[in-house]
Amino acid sequence: MTQSIYQRRQEGWLSENLKHSNHWRFSFDQATQNFLTDFAKKYHRPDAELFSYEFSEWDLGPAIEVIDQAVEETMLGGGLVILEGLPRRELTEDQFGFLNWVIGLHIGVPRPQGKSTQYLAKVQDIGTNYRAASGRGFSSNEKLTFHTDGADISTLGCFNTAKSGGMSMITSSTAVWRQFEREHPELTNAVEEHLFYFSRQQEEAPDERPYYGQKLFEECDGLIFGKWNSNRLRTAQDINDVPKLTETQNKILNYMGEIIQRSTHLYTMYLKPGDLQIMNNNTVFHSRTAYEDYADADKKRLLYRLWIAPKKSPRLPQSWNEFYGEIGANMVRGGIKGHHFDEQCKKFDDDHARKLQMSFDN
Ligand SMILES: [Fe+2]
Repeated sequence: MTQSIYQRRQEGWLSENLKHSNHWRFSFDQATQNFLTDFAKKYHRPDAELFSYEFSEWDLGPAIEVIDQAVEETMLGGGLVILEGLPRRELTEDQFGFLNWVIGLHIGVPRPQGKSTQYLAKVQDIGTNYRAASGRGFSSNEKLTFHTDGADISTLGCFNTAKSGGMSMITSSTAVWRQFEREHPELTNAVEEHLFYFSRQQEEAPDERPYYGQKLFEECDGLIFGKWNSNRLRTAQDINDVPKLTETQNKILNYMGEIIQRSTHLYTMYLKPGDLQIMNNNTVFHSRTAYEDYADADKKRLLYRLWIAPKKSPRLPQSWNEFYGEIGANMVRGGIKGHHFDEQCKKFDDDHARKLQMSFDN
């Protein structure tokens, strides 16, 4: 069954739609890979701070068209893309991370990602307990529950894979909603009315409360937007002031949680070195299986992650406002400011927003 990009955004997709179509797969050809290799070697400075690079001097040349097509599918279509062919063998770990940063700067304004206010995060196992009140999945090797990340777009650039495990699992949240509407019409009004509360996992900035409210699904300008994070929903229940989940809310969570993992809806894959996975967190939910690393430190699983407020974004639903800070179209929004969001971060956000002609209100 072939779907148009419009249908992928309106109806979402099933796993068979991805299996039988290449609309979501993009790749850099050899000439572009060579160009990106030269680019990273020319501009990467081993000791430079991320914010010190002058983006306006750069030209991503032949890579631009492919990246723009991939982002179009991410934002206006099914919300999931694999872009193959980032030069991996030719680059050092840091040069590869730098290339992920450069691509992110082209897509939009990168957002901070948690307690330590990282703009370019290394996803690798450093022994974190994911289930703890302050736990985060990206620094553990545990199985993750389904969730959305903290910005419109996430990019994951694969440098090393695990010895075993670490399978990526993605479901179209739009398709989950459409299925839920068909199977549980008696509960659709309740979904539209109820706020759910998510823990900030102790990453809150001084001016934020330790949890935030958001609807699981909400429509805005004719588009449906989804939100999910089982771990943060669960840990929020231990925070004073957070209302306890009602029977109706628990029913909704159970029904949806089951649809998310149905084989008809769930698509699984392994990233390979040089793959860039791009996701729209408002239209797909994702998770990952547990993994085992190689003993050799140089071979351990390593992905570079960015959270991005993309150019030309649509307006977000009203209940997205508490977490995202802004919901206007083409605005810089989202991210987790964490504990180290300082003047330098603010200046980077402002400067880069201006370069991309995006609005920013801080
Ligand atoms: Fe994630």
